[in-house]
Amino acid sequence: MAQEILKDVFFIGYVDWEVRNFHGYSTNRGSSYNAYLVKSGDAYTLIDTVKRPYFEYYLANIKSVCDLKDIKYFIVNHVEPDHSGSFPLIEKYLPNAEIVASTKGVEILEQHYHQEVEAGRFKQIRAVKEGDTLDVGNGKIFTFVPIPMIHWSDSMVSFMTDENGKNILFSNDAFGQHLATSRIWDDENDLSVIMQEAEKYYANILLHLSGLIAKTIPKVAPLPIEIMCPSHGVCWRSHIPDILEKYVKWSSGEIEENSVLIVYDTMWNSTEKIAKALYKEIKSRGILVKRFRLTHADYSDVITEAMKAKAILIGSPTLNLGMFPSVAEYVCYQKGLKPINKIGIAFGSYGWSKGAVKEIVEQMEATKIEVIETIEIKFVPRPEDLNFKEVVDKLMAKMEGS
Ligand code: FEO
Repeated sequence: MAQEILKDVFFIGYVDWEVRNFHGYSTNRGSSYNAYLVKSGDAYTLIDTVKRPYFEYYLANIKSVCDLKDIKYFIVNHVEPDHSGSFPLIEKYLPNAEIVASTKGVEILEQHYHQEVEAGRFKQIRAVKEGDTLDVGNGKIFTFVPIPMIHWSDSMVSFMTDENGKNILFSNDAFGQHLATSRIWDDENDLSVIMQEAEKYYANILLHLSGLIAKTIPKVAPLPIEIMCPSHGVCWRSHIPDILEKYVKWSSGEIEENSVLIVYDTMWNSTEKIAKALYKEIKSRGILVKRFRLTHADYSDVITEAMKAKAILIGSPTLNLGMFPSVAEYVCYQKGLKPINKIGIAFGSYGWSKGAVKEIVEQMEATKIEVIETIEIKFVPRPEDLNFKEVVDKLMAKMEGS
């Protein structure tokens, strides 16, 4: 059953309480695939779809609002399958709908849905570019703004002004959160939970695109947005300036507090002894420090902490001349997401041959993390090996100076 969230604007998406892994990202609070239907007189505009397994819910939601033949426009803001997965299924039910996507979106739709192209069903398709408008009738006008790489090259937002002058931004991935909730609005939910999930979403999905996002936010922020309807999680009506401010902060690499993240794994506890000694020394300086052992920690959560920290300390024992597998997996993930403006320390234990610390340094440098120190201890550290006063002095000086 669709939900009319505003006059003539219906939520027709699917709230996914079950999902706990979204292409490798842990979604401990579930997610949602938000899609919308807008009524303008006797006509309707469909905005996005849902993941394919939930097509039947989506179809039933649409049918609870209108006859499918009355859908005149079908806006595809983004082709990733969590939003377009039901595209080939719903598209055949829409004899009178013109498909609207960004220029890149048209290209990528064709690259995803080959059968529909071959069946000749892409005749009514409109490629839009920045600033193009679409009058869908009854005083409702859409303006399209491509936001390439938030999250794919095809991504765009659709800005709608209605007959009463109300302005709604359908922002797709931007400003979303992987969060399942029965309450659609930001002010109906716990704001700290929403912001935690928005932060985790940014760290795991968008962090490596921060340079582009920093250039895109100024295109979106000046729009007179009163309502923001993303394609995951809650819609924004009371905290739009707050989430915009967070995006500015996250995309610039600005951190709220000079803090340290220690992330490591251990085989026979030697590397853990180093991690704990570093933690103790840093804590004694009054600096916020967090410690995660990768055997037990989830790397989606750890990368969120990495985005917020000033210094990232990574430790691994040497196994088979290289990093412990869980550490290798984490640094690979971190390298792809590219946390901004960080300094680092690599540490670990080894037996007869070194290897792990060198590999961590290489991965950190490939991520543009400035490595200021390395620590390598043979087999089991003696108590005097665990005096890291000088190392932490150097770390503090670097953090304060940067
Ligand atoms: Fe939610 Fe890039 O898809």
